[in-house]
Amino acid sequence: MSSDASFDITVRGGRIATDREIRHADIGIRDGVIAAIEEHLPPGREDIAAAGRWVLPGGIDSHVHIEQLSGMGKMSADDFHSGTVSAAFGGTTTIIPFAAQHRGKRIPEVLADYAQRAREKAVIDYGFHLILADPDEEALSQHLPQAIREGITSFKVYMTYDALKLDDHQLLDVLALAGREGALVMVHAENHDMIRWIAQRLLDRGHKAPKFHAVAHDTLAETEASHRAIALARLIDVPVLLVHVAGAETVQLVRSAQKLGGKVYAESCPQYLFLTADDIDAPGMEGAKFCCSPPPRDARSQQAVWDGLKDGTLGLYSSDHAPYRFDESGKLPRGEATTFKEMANGVPGIELRMPLLFSEGVMQGRITINEFVALTATNHARMYGLAHCKGNLAVGLDADLALWNPEREVTVGTAMLHDNVGYTPYEGKRLRGWPELVMSRGRVVVKDNLLQVARGSGRYVARRSPQATLPAAGTAPASRLPALLGLRGKAWPTL
Ligand code: URP
Ligand code: ZN
Ligand code: ZN
Repeated sequence: MSSDASFDITVRGGRIATDREIRHADIGIRDGVIAAIEEHLPPGREDIAAAGRWVLPGGIDSHVHIEQLSGMGKMSADDFHSGTVSAAFGGTTTIIPFAAQHRGKRIPEVLADYAQRAREKAVIDYGFHLILADPDEEALSQHLPQAIREGITSFKVYMTYDALKLDDHQLLDVLALAGREGALVMVHAENHDMIRWIAQRLLDRGHKAPKFHAVAHDTLAETEASHRAIALARLIDVPVLLVHVAGAETVQLVRSAQKLGGKVYAESCPQYLFLTADDIDAPGMEGAKFCCSPPPRDARSQQAVWDGLKDGTLGLYSSDHAPYRFDESGKLPRGEATTFKEMANGVPGIELRMPLLFSEGVMQGRITINEFVALTATNHARMYGLAHCKGNLAVGLDADLALWNPEREVTVGTAMLHDNVGYTPYEGKRLRGWPELVMSRGRVVVKDNLLQVARGSGRYVARRSPQATLPAAGTAPASRLPALLGLRGKAWPTL
């Protein structure tokens, strides 16, 4: 695109970072799309001064629970308005929340319901994953292929929670379907019976406090289920993505599986970098504010997650924003008498996800600015079929970006956040670096600490097939089962 064309907006003089490079340049935006990136572009109808700022791709948060009924039957505190506003204030311009099928519900209706609610409220762009609780014949043969055609190219499955849990046979069915149709299976990997068994014994002994959530969700429950999920995927040679990796052993498992040639991908979240089980061990019910599944673990696991994000073992950094209020609607259904089994699982993080990693990762020298971009935006776009329009700064992509002031110091407080949760696990944390202007498809969404766009102005994005990012060859022989079983489809293109 020639640089003498006129632009709607020119973002001038910023330091641009993509997942691969850093350069000083202007960005010319026309019709919501990046039309030019060059050193000296002519003025746009509007000029945005970016000197002294990092200009980064808008974040993609590919794991958020918004206006969603959880596995425990709790409605999240954020709707598609508060959730997307909160995301935008933290530098995120695209989210992929879940449309949750609960047993007995038909997938087309579930998807239509979520689409309708998001359309009316979202202020930034969004896709959907489908939470799949009932992979019956009709779902596998009709509804999932149809959902994939409509741009829902990833499904989350659970190995725990009574209402959602799939058995190994069902997991194989879903993995095989995804392999055939070019979709990705995201797995919540925790061993259901280990957790149930420990929890029952804890409760029998009168151990009800929030801190026992971390005891019941032992790290071995995560390790065992993660290993099983990886084995099931490798058995039929299809990609799998482990979400919210918390434990050091899981990071190691993923790394080993990748070296063996498994198409194994993994995500982690702020709570596993910045919280530990000690936070759950707070006086009274306070610890409930830090309870999510899997729970934050210890300093060793925190370090393993940092290492995994740095070396690429964990390619995605998402919030797993699972917002529940600290009252009877969420964390405390029976007030002070609530046991750790009854409180809603999940922590908020959609707004602070990027500022936390920017401050503690980039500004502290743990990761580079390019790694920050990859972990918060580009890898999500590739993994979830959005790279044709989002996740980077390049001509032809949507003008989704944020201007980050690296010197701005912020002390985190609940009052400054835009979600509907009423607390933050990161209260009082001092951060350096903040996204001061956020743009989605060339629309300034956040500026001067104010929301600039209307409710419902975000758009649904139909996602394409995920793009594998790991080398195919590994040290283990490839599975012969796909050939023997006559499996055919996108995961097995040579058959
Ligand atoms: O505790 C969490 N993470 N709750 C949200 C639901 C889920 O499993 O991701
Ligand atoms: Zn989960
Ligand atoms: Zn989640």
